[in-house]
Amino acid sequence: MVNDVLGREQFELREVPIPELTQGQALVRVRLLNIHSGTRARMANGMTKLGDTDRSNYACADVVQSRDQTFREGDVIACQAGWQDYQIVSSEEASVGYGPASELVKALNGTNSQWNYVFRPAMVKMWPPEVLMEMFGTSGMTAYFGMRECGPLMPRDRVAVAGTTGSVGSIAAQIARMRHSSRRHSPRGSMSTPMASAGL
Ligand SMILES: NC(=O)c1ccc[n+]([C@@H]2O[C@H](COP(=O)([O-])OP(=O)(O)OC[C@H]3O[C@@H](n4cnc5c(N)ncnc54)[C@H](OP(=O)(O)O)[C@@H]3O)[C@@H](O)[C@H]2O)c1
Repeated sequence: MVNDVLGREQFELREVPIPELTQGQALVRVRLLNIHSGTRARMANGMTKLGDTDRSNYACADVVQSRDQTFREGDVIACQAGWQDYQIVSSEEASVGYGPASELVKALNGTNSQWNYVFRPAMVKMWPPEVLMEMFGTSGMTAYFGMRECGPLMPRDRVAVAGTTGSVGSIAAQIARMRHSSRRHSPRGSMSTPMASAGL
């Protein structure tokens, strides 16, 4: 996060009281926050205002208190959160910074956002938040469904993946490997052609 243009002096740690929940809201404690490519794009475009935290980050969180019908105390959920320890969430809310969720996503998640859903308890027992959010979260789903869009992938296919040092590209390349396709990894390359491929 800290680089030539962004320094620690641009950030400030603030302690503020946690507001009382109203009907339809839940209080979550953030376990892990993903400052992902979309967040960085919002910061670069000035969509994150000075003095604000960016509320669009993908997060894994524990439900601490709930007055929301979808989230129960003790649930581990995916949500969007600012750069903070606690966040008020609501299953009624649309996503922050992204388009509206489809009807299918709403029905599956029981929320109005593609980013808000309860992780299955068995998954939470088996995997730490890093895996829930990466392989089973947005990066893994993007890579998996992206590869499916190009598929079916056959053993003879050659797959070229750009940006294989990144979260989506690294998983896409591993999916191709699992399918026994011969790979062409391209650590850097045009992000507008993330999966230029021959024969798919
Ligand atoms: N992650 C998600 O959940 C998600 C979901 C939907 C869509 N997307 C989209 O998928 C794309 C990749 O996202 P990501 O999360 O994998 O990002 P990431 O982890 O930041 O990875 C970015 C990749 O792009 C490469 N790259 C950066 N600048 C480049 C340049 N100028 N020329 C060539 N390669 C460059 C990086 O290579 P170096 O390591 O060499 O810098 C890295 O491999 C983005 O367009 C993102 O918006 C991501």
